[in-house]
Amino acid sequence: MSKVTVVGAGNVGATVANVLAHKDIVREVVLLDIKGDMARGKSLDSFQQAPIDYYSTRLTGSEDYRETANSDIVVITAGIPRKPGMSRDDLISTNANIVKSVTKSIMEHSEEPIIIVVSNPLDVMTYAAQEASGLSDEKVFGMAGILDTARYRAFLAMELNVSPKDIQAMLLGGHGDTMVPLPRYTSVAGIPITELVESSRLDEIVERTKKGGGELVKLMGTSAWYAPGAAAAQMVAAIVRDEDRIFPCCAKLNGEYGLSDIFLGIPVKLGKGGIKEVLELKLEKDEKDLLKESAEHVRAVIDVYKNM
Ligand code: LAC
Repeated sequence: MSKVTVVGAGNVGATVANVLAHKDIVREVVLLDIKGDMARGKSLDSFQQAPIDYYSTRLTGSEDYRETANSDIVVITAGIPRKPGMSRDDLISTNANIVKSVTKSIMEHSEEPIIIVVSNPLDVMTYAAQEASGLSDEKVFGMAGILDTARYRAFLAMELNVSPKDIQAMLLGGHGDTMVPLPRYTSVAGIPITELVESSRLDEIVERTKKGGGELVKLMGTSAWYAPGAAAAQMVAAIVRDEDRIFPCCAKLNGEYGLSDIFLGIPVKLGKGGIKEVLELKLEKDEKDLLKESAEHVRAVIDVYKNM
């Protein structure tokens, strides 16, 4: 049975730990935070939910990286969240240093963990975590596409008044306003979305999706946590159960889509060991152009990181 560490006991990290415990598929979740008492408190609260919601996963909290020893999977949520008016990219200098030092501390106590990055700016923080860890491409990736497609699917469910369960979608690109939701790869119980929602309305929903994180920051004064936390927990589950799920994830590209030396959202197969395959879609010209624009945006932020 697996051991999972979640770094950062803020809203997102605590939600990852709590949702994961509810799945009852790993033996142990360690919640690590520089504020050790917050990590201890939230994990104790979560474990006190176990007799009610019926799971066996042990949850503990600590500020001591020795407690993370021999983790199979590490989810990094550490860093500061956005405030209203900020873009994810504005967080880079603070969060790059945090993500790098967290990754190094993790690697001192676990040999070959899988690392899932959630900290923003996501694509660049995933790049930084791989660099700091020295792990191979299939072991370091970021959570963004599951969240972004979930927002898109939720908006479509609201629009059509159908269950969100029946909405399937794919999305490419960076975790920012240049993300590329793909109407051509969106369906409702197999029915192409283009048959159900007219194109101008679909454009509006795509726009709302791109700014979906910012909409929540505006409402709450800080960034979201329920859907982000659940999305990261779903990635952990796919790996632990060796499910071979196809998810949009932020992964390293090595020539796919004509791009390399970059982390970007693309469809991957996720199972035991991490990313088993990067799927290359047959994109049309306008889709390719949007992906290129998104990649250029992410690349510019990677350059800021490299020059730090
Ligand atoms: C969001 C943050 C988690 O999109 O990036 O809500």
